[in-house]
Amino acid sequence: MRNLIDIMDLSVEEIDGLIDVAQDIVENPDKYTEKCKNKVMATLFFEPSTRTRLSFESAMYGLGGSVLGFSDAGSSSTTKGESVSDTVRTASIYSDIVVMRHPKEGAPLVASYSSECPIINAGDGGHNHPTQTLTDLFTIKKEMGRLTDLTVGFCGDLKFGRTVHSLISALSRYTGIKFVLISPDELKLPGYIKDGVLEKNGLTYTETKDLDGVIGELDILYMTRVQRERFFNEEDYLRLKDSYILTSDKMKHASKDMRVLHPLPRVNEIHVDIDDDPRAAYFRQVRNGKYIRMALVMKLLGV
Ligand code: NCD
Repeated sequence: MRNLIDIMDLSVEEIDGLIDVAQDIVENPDKYTEKCKNKVMATLFFEPSTRTRLSFESAMYGLGGSVLGFSDAGSSSTTKGESVSDTVRTASIYSDIVVMRHPKEGAPLVASYSSECPIINAGDGGHNHPTQTLTDLFTIKKEMGRLTDLTVGFCGDLKFGRTVHSLISALSRYTGIKFVLISPDELKLPGYIKDGVLEKNGLTYTETKDLDGVIGELDILYMTRVQRERFFNEEDYLRLKDSYILTSDKMKHASKDMRVLHPLPRVNEIHVDIDDDPRAAYFRQVRNGKYIRMALVMKLLGV
């Protein structure tokens, strides 16, 4: 039984294969409408979500399957004191695949030990978010035509941003990637990624606070939201929340071929004026999230 807890659970060949299937789904959707007929997905969201949960559910319906679950742990037996393991084990008895999001780092891994079916990590605290990474990789491949030889800027909350951690790990296995880490001192990339992924693999990276100074060098600008829910105090959040605001003026200094990605939700960090700029890829990214999740669900269900 195969789970997806960490993006490194998939080899580069498997990721490239998922991207090919996702592209085939875009081109030939009719081929896939019955692939998961009679299969059930449970979506267990112990933390808020819009895109991740809806894209998984939309993916399962698109494959002819059905969905059950909860989007608010307050309506589950968690409020009675049930453990995550028991809740997930129960859901796995009623379903063929479980998608779960939890505020605690490592919760999906722990849950996988008691689950009777495959588990997908849909975000665990400030740790990992492997299916957003699949979405990001599919988007980069579609927009740029390649996943190699790119200068990728990560901007904003690199400390708590789980999508950043997973995407950096994934990109570390492709050749010719230069990482530009743009954040305030307080929100720098954690040591376990900087040392454990970038340094360990001898990858090229720079750290800066200055988005304007580097925007002209980037092929991809990956913007992120400051993760309010992971802060210990509101004062720090308020001080840091508007560290970066991407405006049309700033975009004038970027290459005409650069793409702006954002896992969303955005708060203030991208001005809405940019939404119509052809370089703004974040709503195309939302769409891509459905197709790559369809490919993933089929793979883990072995269909
Ligand atoms: C992200 C997440 O939940 O980590 N959202 C998403 O899944 N697309 C990013 C965020 O919440 O800022």
